[in-house]
Amino acid sequence: MGRFYITTPIYYVNDAPHVGHAYTTVNADALARWHRLLGDETKFLTGTDEHGQKVADAAEKNGLTPQEWTDRTSARFREAWDALGISYDDFIRTTEPRHYESVQKFLSAIHDNGYLYKDVYKGLYCVSCEDYFTVESSIDGKCPIHGRELTEMEEENWFFKLSAFEDRLLEYYGEHPEFVTPETKRNEAYSFIKGGLRDISITRTSISWGVPVPWDEKHVFYVWYDALVNYLTAIGYGREDDEVDKWWPSSHHLIGKEIIRFHCVWWPAMCMAAGLEPASHVQVHGWLLVGGQKLSKTMAAEGGVRLTDIAPVVLTNEFGVDPIRYYLLRDTVLGNDGEFSHEGITSRYNTDLANNLGNLVARVTTVVNSKCAGIGPASRADSELRGEAEKAITDTAAAWNHFAPQSALEATWGLIGATNAYLERHAPWKMESGAQVEGVMGDALEAIRLVTILASPAMPAVCEEIWRRIGLGGSPTDQTFERSAKWGEYSGGQRVEKGAPLFPRIKSDA
Ligand code: MSP
Repeated sequence: MGRFYITTPIYYVNDAPHVGHAYTTVNADALARWHRLLGDETKFLTGTDEHGQKVADAAEKNGLTPQEWTDRTSARFREAWDALGISYDDFIRTTEPRHYESVQKFLSAIHDNGYLYKDVYKGLYCVSCEDYFTVESSIDGKCPIHGRELTEMEEENWFFKLSAFEDRLLEYYGEHPEFVTPETKRNEAYSFIKGGLRDISITRTSISWGVPVPWDEKHVFYVWYDALVNYLTAIGYGREDDEVDKWWPSSHHLIGKEIIRFHCVWWPAMCMAAGLEPASHVQVHGWLLVGGQKLSKTMAAEGGVRLTDIAPVVLTNEFGVDPIRYYLLRDTVLGNDGEFSHEGITSRYNTDLANNLGNLVARVTTVVNSKCAGIGPASRADSELRGEAEKAITDTAAAWNHFAPQSALEATWGLIGATNAYLERHAPWKMESGAQVEGVMGDALEAIRLVTILASPAMPAVCEEIWRRIGLGGSPTDQTFERSAKWGEYSGGQRVEKGAPLFPRIKSDA
């Protein structure tokens, strides 16, 4: 048992939470839940990024002060995460006093160490990225990511000597081959460093919505420069409640691929400049894309739907919380781009949840009630299913440990498939009551018990419900994985309940 510190990017509050944000947050949540199940002392951080031009513009457009606007939108992120069963341990807002304190301490350390200097900055700025581009890196004067016009900016700024960290970063990458995963993204970051680093401007005088620079009052820190520090704010950097030695540098940042440069180049260099080790791991994921399909009658706007128009709650209302969590975790390999579609959710729901898991639980609880007087029999040590179960336990654990929710769930569903096949081979529903049917049902109940433990990081509420239906007290996560995930713990004698269908089928043309 160890410690596990995992973070999501902190989300901009210029807009409401959407499915793309939910994708990152659900993955981080499942990983945090997995580590809690292992018995690791776990800290899961998410939050909102509230400074910068983009947020100030959004507030103005809505006739509110930036603080009023950020209060309102940040609350919407919390509501979305509550609705998705997100078990964050801390929710940080960059407008909180604790963050100001940590940012100012962290950046003063970089200043004191001689890595900041003042100069005039001229560049093309994209407000959506909150980032600068050169003429060469723009496309006809437009942002290569958002396609919007870039604004020419010129101001006196403080600069960070990023160029001074080229060699140290390359060395760090060499010594920590798993710093960035998957490898393709690691190579992308590495090539970027190899290509040569330019110093970056880290303060602004043109806006006031930011954390003030303690040694030069006209300036506020550039939003990215304050935002990255949130990962340290949450563990008390530079404050009385300092727990940095406890949680750092062994920590995991889960991020989307568009913010690799900030997390895999700037951030480790900033840590080095402040005299800290960089975070030990950045796990990059791809984008969920909408491939032109109609999402649903209610979701489809005129002329198609953008992912950023879909509120997570629209999906959870339609499909349920755990099915959406399952879909987000199961359908896309973490690291690759994925296709997001209504058809995709419906198909996963009907196949994996209704036909496989739901059907297994329904069959077993029904037969235990009709042939075993509703009392679950014990499993058998020499069961045919045992090998499959042990393989699923090993493979599922290995995949979660390697930040691979998709293969973890695939391995768990392997056991569901094997148990359904086992039931079909033995057809206990055709047997007379007695020892034979009891043996088969005890084995199937044990397989279900294991499945609820293995799938609990993805579908916590459904797994708890199944656990209850098979007569077990408490929850599948009450005991550590090592203690509970082994064959033969279903002791028998429990009252088994045949409840309503867990996943009523959805018509695929919905
Ligand atoms: N505020 C910065 C991050 C600062 S972290 C110190 C930011 N915020 S954001 O609101 O734009 O959120 C970006 C993150 O949301 C992405 O990195 C990604 O994790 C997630 N996603 C946004 N759209 C997404 C998809 N279409 N698909 C998957 N994830 C997406 O950048």
